Amino acid sequence: MCGIIGYVGPQQALPILISGLYRLEYRGYDSAGVAIATRSGLRVQKAEGRIPNLESRLPKRMRGGLGIGHTRWATHGEPTDLNAHPHTDSSGQLALVHNGIIENAAALRDEFVGQGVEFRSETDSEVLAELIAAHWDGDLEAAVRAALLAVEGTYGIAVIDQRQPGQIIVARNGSPVIVGLGEREMFVASDVAALVRHTKQVVHLDDGELAVVEASGFRTSTLDARPTEKSTLTVSWGQEAYDRGEHEHFFHKEIFEQPEACERTLRGRLDLSFSTAHLGGLNLAARELLEIRRIVLLGAGSAYYAASAGAQMLETLTRVPAHAEPAAEFRYRDPVIEKDALYLAVSQSGETFDTLAAVQEIRRKGGRVLGVVNSVGSTIARECDGGIYIHAGVEVSVTSTKTYTSTLVALALLALHIGRIRDLSPSRGRDLIDALRALPSQIEQVLAGEDEIRALARGFAQHANAFFIGRAAAYVTAREGAQKLKEISYIHAEAYPASELKHGPLALVGPDTPTLAVAPHGPLLGKMLSSMEEIRARRGRIIALTHPDEPLVESLSDAQIVVPRSEPALDPILMGIPLQLLAYHCARELGRDIDKPRNLAKSVTVE
Ligand code: G6P
Repeated sequence: MCGIIGYVGPQQALPILISGLYRLEYRGYDSAGVAIATRSGLRVQKAEGRIPNLESRLPKRMRGGLGIGHTRWATHGEPTDLNAHPHTDSSGQLALVHNGIIENAAALRDEFVGQGVEFRSETDSEVLAELIAAHWDGDLEAAVRAALLAVEGTYGIAVIDQRQPGQIIVARNGSPVIVGLGEREMFVASDVAALVRHTKQVVHLDDGELAVVEASGFRTSTLDARPTEKSTLTVSWGQEAYDRGEHEHFFHKEIFEQPEACERTLRGRLDLSFSTAHLGGLNLAARELLEIRRIVLLGAGSAYYAASAGAQMLETLTRVPAHAEPAAEFRYRDPVIEKDALYLAVSQSGETFDTLAAVQEIRRKGGRVLGVVNSVGSTIARECDGGIYIHAGVEVSVTSTKTYTSTLVALALLALHIGRIRDLSPSRGRDLIDALRALPSQIEQVLAGEDEIRALARGFAQHANAFFIGRAAAYVTAREGAQKLKEISYIHAEAYPASELKHGPLALVGPDTPTLAVAPHGPLLGKMLSSMEEIRARRGRIIALTHPDEPLVESLSDAQIVVPRSEPALDPILMGIPLQLLAYHCARELGRDIDKPRNLAKSVTVE
């Protein structure tokens, strides 16, 4: 969601904060601001809009070695200059940046207003700044601690006070805070993306923890002041992951990184001698996996779609019933947590609030939950009983591409692993291994078809509406394809099981509403062809996403996108990729802001 950055040390804080904000912009980008403790007091500058807007408003002199910055995705109050962070208390002595939501802010605000305080913004965060100031008695750490004990809600905060110019106080409850360790200087951020330029040594705070960060070091404690021990994590990637290289957009760069990402997901995990997959972090013995009666996958957005495709793969290959649910819905329907079920939390960032809350709910009720997570050391990864790292690499574009694909690969590995413990024969295991090993070069082949997809996108982008259809696993691909298209091109796209077309949506099919039909080779192809006939009969145009040598598909569609054949259970892995390219080229055709679609954020750390 919103991004936090902070610096304390001998350098000028401002350029560090600004470059950090650029790195964090993908988490939220409707307004931004910085606060620096200068010799003449606390200076704050904020601006609605993107970071360049903030930069253009910075005063000439804003010097000091202590500062905090924030890029916002509005929750409370519109994205205006006044609502942007940092927020100061009414005396202007302390400044705070905040991610999350303070739930009792309205009541606290009323109390302060009763005491004559005049708030400048509509935010819950300004109320928190005032609350900290109200507790200040010469010690910022104690004031923050006392204030946090009086609030309900979620937060990742960083606070500075001009009366204590050598420290930043950070605290976390439900929204990530990371301390970056430098040489006689320290950094804080909501995301390692903002830190890798300066340091690879990071420490993740846990919920309910507070840290006092000074240039010479840091110490952590619980809110009730019990010291805590932290271990340092070394970030394994560098700055280059955050450069677009020759690509116009991160979205495009990340699509083209998929062969490599897939190789990374597979690396060291295929066991040819026993025709299975090794997944070191599962922390589950064969016997425990044998006892599983159900697999439930949870996620949000593209992670949920990847979970849905993964559920089908898992059920097909392990013969254990498997289904996926949006994490937020799951946790609010008071689910029965079964002790012989395996729960999987799927997340790129490992910080999505709803997915994390579902993990906590499952664990509270004694369930066993594994993380399928891309971001190493993230909260979900740490809260789960074990899991599989996706290893897609850093994903910067708000909309997921390579992580979606690599998540499917990771879930295919899990399916192979569990399948081989159960009914899957060694020879089927071997076939799957061969298919998995072929994926990176097959992805290259799909990507080589970019020019044809670009040409198709020119026509597709002229329409305001589109349907995406498929059957069974191909329907999941259709859903993810429709989501991708609407997210970045803003073309209204709806996905339906092809079988459902005639039960309603067919009323809207016609020459102005093209259909993307996901039509892989297989037992359901005949049924897909009937649906395509129905569309043709209403003069609807069809682009078919299919396998080589399918003359019937060719005869019933206006254009085809062809992907290489794989093992049928693994088809969704390759089938998703052309739809990423289609969405990209439609969005480009329409001049959209592809890496930062309107109203969205990469990592949604609020409910
Ligand atoms: C946001 C992003 C989506 C993403 C979803 C889940 O909505 O805009 O692209 O799929 O969160 O994120 P996660 O990090 O849990 O995979």
